[in-house]
Amino acid sequence: MVFFKSLVSALLLAVSAVAQTAPPAPGLTYLYTVNLNVSTPIDLGVGPAGLRRIVPVIGGVFTGPKLNGTAFAVGGDFGFADPKTTVFYSDTRYAFNTSDGALIYVTSTGASVNGTLHSHFKYETSSAAYAWLNTITTIGVGKINLATGGLKVDTWYF
Ligand SMILES: *[C@@H]1O[C@H](CO)[C@@H](O)[C@H](O)[C@H]1NC(C)=O
Ligand SMILES: *[C@@H]1O[C@H](CO)[C@@H](O)[C@H](O)[C@H]1NC(C)=O
Ligand SMILES: *[C@@H]1O[C@H](CO)[C@@H](O)[C@H](O)[C@H]1NC(C)=O
Ligand SMILES: *[C@@H]1O[C@H](CO)[C@@H](O)[C@H](O)[C@H]1NC(C)=O
Repeated sequence: MVFFKSLVSALLLAVSAVAQTAPPAPGLTYLYTVNLNVSTPIDLGVGPAGLRRIVPVIGGVFTGPKLNGTAFAVGGDFGFADPKTTVFYSDTRYAFNTSDGALIYVTSTGASVNGTLHSHFKYETSSAAYAWLNTITTIGVGKINLATGGLKVDTWYF
């Protein structure tokens, strides 16, 4: 019995030791804030994936400590809403032109719950100056910009 009790406390100690050794979370660095201009969404109706909706991107501006520029009037969000939960599963493709002329292809996916979109981003660029964008992991928090009707997204990376 004594042996059993000490075995149990040894196990509990081992479990708490494991919990204490969780690695530190990666620090996030602010990347930029983008204000995307969008035009009237096109609802394609409910298909196998849910309510498919295309939100065209018609321009935009992004600013951050290491890059800034404009969004081309191309692409959009090709996501869908789950009719049961109203969660919108965002799936975007668009492109940036930096103030110094680098061209960046942007894709993101994420879920919008109650008006807040949590996304992760990928970038592709042929620019040597911005090649670091090709390998970072980026997350974004987005909301409808009530002043403009566009989408405002803050992004961070590690
Ligand atoms: C984007 O929206 C802003 C704010 O409403 C506006 O000033 C700007 O002209 C718009 N740009 C385009 C390309 O629609
Ligand atoms: C945009 O970035 C360029 C350099 O990449 C910098 O010279 C300029 O001041 C930045 N502009 C803004 C509005 O941040
Ligand atoms: C990107 O922006 C730069 C600077 O504003 C401009 O000179 C260039 O023509 C733009 N590139 C494209 C492909 O529109
Ligand atoms: C979203 O809103 C609904 C209704 O107001 C609420 O029940 C739900 O908990 C909210 N979900 C999140 C993730 O905040």
